[in-house]
Amino acid sequence: MRKQIAAANWKMNLTLPEAEQLTKDILSGMPLLQDGQHVIMAVPFPYLHAVQHIIAGKPVSLAAQNVASEEKGAYTGETSAAMLASVNVPFVLIGHSERRQFFHEDNLLLARKIDIALGHGLQPVFCCGEPQQIREENTQNQYVEQQIAESLFHLSKEQMQRVIIAYEPIWAIGTGLTASTEQAQEMHKQIRIFVAGKYGEELADNLTILYGGSVKGANAADIFAQPDVDGGLVGGASLVASEFTQIINGLKK
Ligand code: PGA
Repeated sequence: MRKQIAAANWKMNLTLPEAEQLTKDILSGMPLLQDGQHVIMAVPFPYLHAVQHIIAGKPVSLAAQNVASEEKGAYTGETSAAMLASVNVPFVLIGHSERRQFFHEDNLLLARKIDIALGHGLQPVFCCGEPQQIREENTQNQYVEQQIAESLFHLSKEQMQRVIIAYEPIWAIGTGLTASTEQAQEMHKQIRIFVAGKYGEELADNLTILYGGSVKGANAADIFAQPDVDGGLVGGASLVASEFTQIINGLKK
């Protein structure tokens, strides 16, 4: 069954006390989840342990925001998939547009990160999405398909089943500009058709595809109601407990 997921991405925000308080406020304000609904929180590395402690026994899972493309060794400042697995972090964001833009991560490097994450039992949330200029040229489908093909299409069916895709048009991230519900649905459907071409309809049908880009409490339910949108990856609004709990409330039942 396709999962419905509300995923928070705190990015490089909050101090430890703020992170702890936000986690507690989200837990106390969130609705009872229905079957198939999930909440994931991608928190900064130094807070993984503290947040894990607070969410223990609750229906919320942790994600890291990044993972190294190498197994281990002399890579100062990096965090490996084995490290994340050893502290029981089940999910990891891979290929966020900010990683692509500011840290020059390209599709092939991301393919390595995907392999390493899966190899250590982590479930990747693979982010893709086009910049403004590509949208203006109306070549966004080809652009996103290339990101997916180059980073994911070497995977076996078994591996691909474990991947979650997040479509995040770059022009909508942190800008307050949200893709229209039609634009989101259109791309999500396109991604599903593209994945079906490689892995078959059944896998594509079960693939969870999140939308990201200025999702807020007020627009979440409308976006999530689209047939091919299975929830959201949320930046700014996930830092406000009442916003994020409203977003969780917007998940399809
Ligand atoms: P935003 O960020 O919700 O602040 O637009 C989304 C993301 O970058 O995942």
